[in-house]
Formats: sequence, C-alpha cells, structure tokens
Amino acid sequence: MNVVVTGANRGLGLEFCKQLRADGHAVVGSSRGRSQALDGTGVHVEKLDIADTESIARFAAAVAERFERVDLLINNAGINSKTAPKGQKNVRLGDLEPQGMLRMIQVNAVGPVLVSQALLPVLGVGSRVVSISSWLGSIAGKTSGGNYGYCASKATLNMLMRTFAHDVASKDITSVVINPGWVQTKMGGPRAPLTPTESVTGMLSVVAALTPEQNGSFLQWDGTESAW
Ligand SMILES: NC(=O)c1ccc[n+]([C@@H]2O[C@H](COP(=O)([O-])OP(=O)(O)OC[C@H]3O[C@@H](n4cnc5c(N)ncnc54)[C@H](OP(=O)(O)O)[C@@H]3O)[C@@H](O)[C@H]2O)c1
Repeated sequence: MNVVVTGANRGLGLEFCKQLRADGHAVVGSSRGRSQALDGTGVHVEKLDIADTESIARFAAAVAERFERVDLLINNAGINSKTAPKGQKNVRLGDLEPQGMLRMIQVNAVGPVLVSQALLPVLGVGSRVVSISSWLGSIAGKTSGGNYGYCASKATLNMLMRTFAHDVASKDITSVVINPGWVQTKMGGPRAPLTPTESVTGMLSVVAALTPEQNGSFLQWDGTESAW
C-alpha cells in the first residue's frame, strides 16, 4: 500500500509509520520541522504545517509526485492544551478567548479535512481515510466541564469527516474517525494506560478490516463503535 501519515515525527504518527514500514508499505510521513525520529525508517518525509493552506497545497503536490495513488491517508497530526503553544486559553470557563479555541479547531479539524480534500486526486476506489479523533470529541460522552477547545475541535473533526465520508462514498472511498484510546505520548502523558504500540496495532487491525458499510463511522482503537 501507499500510505500518508501526518504528524509522523513522534507519538502515534511515528508508531504508525514504523508498523506500516515493517509490513512493507511505502510511507510518506509529514513533519513540521527537521526530525531525526524517522531517520533510517525508510519513511519519506515531507514538510507540512496543517494550519497553513499553502503548506497543505505543497504537501499534496509532493505526495502526488511520489504516489500515483494513496491507498491509506492517516490524518493523525493534532494538538491538545498541553502540546499547543503556551498561553492559549481554551480550557477553563472564565479564562476562554477566541484565539486558542480557534487555533485548536483549525489544527485538529479544519486541517485534516483540507488535507483530505487536497489529496482527493490521488484517492481512488478502495482508498481509506482514517482521521484520529478522541473520546473527548464525543458529545454523548461529554459528562464534565472544561477542555473546551480540544473537545470542540474533535467534535468538529467528527462532523467534517462524516460529511467528507458522504461526499466521497460515490468514489468508493471509505473514511472513518477513530478514537486511539488514552496513549503514552507527549500528548497523552506517562499515566496513560496504553502504549503507542498497543493503540496503533489495534487501529491498524481496524483499518485492515474496514468495509465500505463502515464509511462515516466513529470507531475505537479496539474496533468497537464509539458514541457520537
Ligand atoms: N495520546 C493520546 O492519549 C490521544 C488521545 C486521543 C486522541 N489523540 C490524538 O491522536 C493524534 C496523535 O496524538 P499523539 O498522542 O501522538 O500526540 P503528539 O505526541 O503530541 O504528536 C502530535 C503530532 O502532531 C504534529 N502536529 C502538531 N501540530 C501540527 C501542525 N500544525 N501541523 C502539522 N503537524 C502538527 C506534531 O508535530 P510537531 O512535532 O511539529 O509538533 C506531532 O507529530 C492527535 O490527533 C491527538 O489528538 C491522542
């Protein structure tokens, strides 16, 4: 398979790249800056800042130059309040301001759908688009206050990618959003119960078993359905 992974230089993205390369797939991974993490992995690295439309266009052109067809796009890049630039106020009521919340939505929701749109020319019959969401993007599962920006951004991602899924169904593309679980990465922190290996192994099994009937669904890393 030809695979594209955004946010490939650490965390879940890096683990996706390693497992996909170990299975013999050709992988283009994106990174914002120079990253040594992917050295020696055989992953072809292209620059991408998902919040910059010109960067997305350049990235899509570079991917199209390398791959005639993309079999699997993994929209993985994202931020939370811990990994976002300092000083952003999108977490607590009384402290909220537009910039932080809008940045969160731009990176976590608008960016992935724009990347998917930009790569449409190389997505074809049987291609799959997997966008990494979160249980925190589930409106039904929102049972506490706080974390406004991140939760809203993942709920927005869910809606944008469900809409995308309907639009690309006629091309026989299958697009889903997946909650990776709480995972030990820079974002998830060391107390998370899952390792990147466990989460990504689970998600890649889900991806391998995806059927067109699942287009537009919200799944979890272990293959079960998530509440919207
Ligand atoms: N870890 C968890 O427990 C957990 C739970 C639920 C959902 N998720 C989701 O899983 C995905 C991966 O998270 P992770 O845990 O692996 O986080 P991570 O370790 O913080 O990695 C995030 C990746 O996204 C990239 N990124 C951030 N902003 C970007 C931008 N503007 N343009 C391009 N790339 C950008 C980062 O690149 P830089 O190095 O350039 O910043 C990095 O490669 C995210 O979408 C996250 O929301 C994670």
